[in-house]
Amino acid sequence: MFIAANWKMNLDKKSIKCFVKHLQNYKFSKNLQLCIFPPTIYIDFLSELTKNIPISIGGQNCHHQSFGAFTGEVSASSLKEFGCDFVIIGHSERRIYNKETNENIKKCAQFGIKSNLKPIICVGENLEQRENGNALDFIEKQITDCLPEEFNELMIAYEPIWSIGTGKIPHQSEIKEMHKNIKEIVFSKSKKNVKVLYGGSVNEQNIQEILSVNNVDGVLVGGASLKIKDLLAICGSAVKHLKNL
Ligand code: 13P
Repeated sequence: MFIAANWKMNLDKKSIKCFVKHLQNYKFSKNLQLCIFPPTIYIDFLSELTKNIPISIGGQNCHHQSFGAFTGEVSASSLKEFGCDFVIIGHSERRIYNKETNENIKKCAQFGIKSNLKPIICVGENLEQRENGNALDFIEKQITDCLPEEFNELMIAYEPIWSIGTGKIPHQSEIKEMHKNIKEIVFSKSKKNVKVLYGGSVNEQNIQEILSVNNVDGVLVGGASLKIKDLLAICGSAVKHLKNL
């Protein structure tokens, strides 16, 4: 079970220190893999503080070139050098605010893989596409266009845009249908099985409901990952869920 904590552009040194203090006392189950995605500038800080804690660290994005004149960007190899194992690619916020295209996202994933990072490629429809019945087709195109030519380990995060930060989550049947579809599309293109995470308003109250859906292999948590108490409650529920399987 994979729990990804995407801090986005939040937290500072003081709050990260406090966060880690609580993590230190947490008994991690071997069935649970927690990965924190801090703002890029805090990756090294978090990595130093969590040396003896069994969590992973990841980048929130990487550039679609390996190096060069790209002011303000971060390369996959720099993320790796500073201890990252994973990288989120193509988050809807970057697609919208940074105008990232499927073509760029595919290149980002390829550079991530080249630097030994495991990409988590984000896909998700907006409300209009969901309401018009176009969600499945839209996600199929996103995957077809973004999937790297070659990969060993890769995850897809299904994050409906209308669910991010809104407190609304899709019906269990909608998540089930989408995750099954995503796995089938990736398999048909690559002959590989991938894990599919669900993201969008995941919290302590709805985590059990989400994890009980077939083909949900973990979650990508935004807002509820910023408070250690909420994140650990999510981890605790996930472990409980695994025990009940
Ligand atoms: P929220 O959990 O705040 O809805 O954010 C989800 C997300 O975008 C994670 O990447």
